[in-house]
Amino acid sequence: MFAVENPSQRERLRALAAVCDPPTKAVLLRWAVRPGARCLEVGAGAGTLALWLARRCPAGDVTATDTDVRFLTGLRHPALTVLRHDVRTEEFPPGTFDLIVARSVLCHLRERDEVLAKLVSWLSPGGRIYIEDPSFFPAASSADPVVRRLGAAIASTLAAAIGSDVETWARSFPAPLLGHGLAKVGVRVHCPTLTSDNAAGSAWRLSVADLMPIMDRRGILPEAEASAALARLRRPEFIDVAHAMIAMWGVRPPA
Ligand SMILES: C[S@@+](CC[C@H](N)C(=O)[O-])C[C@H]1O[C@@H](n2cnc3c(N)ncnc32)[C@H](O)[C@@H]1O
Repeated sequence: MFAVENPSQRERLRALAAVCDPPTKAVLLRWAVRPGARCLEVGAGAGTLALWLARRCPAGDVTATDTDVRFLTGLRHPALTVLRHDVRTEEFPPGTFDLIVARSVLCHLRERDEVLAKLVSWLSPGGRIYIEDPSFFPAASSADPVVRRLGAAIASTLAAAIGSDVETWARSFPAPLLGHGLAKVGVRVHCPTLTSDNAAGSAWRLSVADLMPIMDRRGILPEAEASAALARLRRPEFIDVAHAMIAMWGVRPPA
């Protein structure tokens, strides 16, 4: 789903950013960023957050990493560095960053626990980490059987295809950070409303369209059923809540 050849990736990343950026920024704005802060965004995607961070701390240094930097290389800001970097296999020196952000990345990595441990080790003493990921638990309790079935089908397909966990990982927040001994730990939940004409609905429709052949091939959801579900998501009267974006954060205690 997140492969380089995925034709709708740019559009999907833009839709995700449109849905997620305002609530993410609202949390990040709670914390002062000192001049000269060193920030890292892992899996920066379309780079909207990384660019915003660079504008927030122009005297600092914001590193935006991704395994697919196609949509990042065109971004220009003196405080922004774009780096092709695989968070599973590549390193930064311990204690490098004052702020680390990773949104909708760890849920898709089988090695999420090991990766989180690495991210924490890259924090400077007093540095803050912000992790945000989706959980589909609202789809499971939808009154609409099509949304229930679609949510379960997408979750199983992502799990089988790339090892994602969009069900239990984010729902377990903030336990993963507490396990690393972080201080000032907090959690925020944002449940976007899906409609036929908003960005959240668009992100869902693009994901369903991308996953349709895989869901069909793996016997998870026949293509005809997925097409019918897509048609339902396009209806003007469609409105539901299908996933939650759950954020957790914490501070590495000063040495
Ligand atoms: C769902 S997108 C989220 C993009 C962005 N963080 C956002 O929330 O708008 C996941 C991003 O993580 C990147 N990614 C996937 N595996 C990665 C890895 N091992 N290391 C770094 N980035 C990775 C993908 O290329 C993609 O840009």
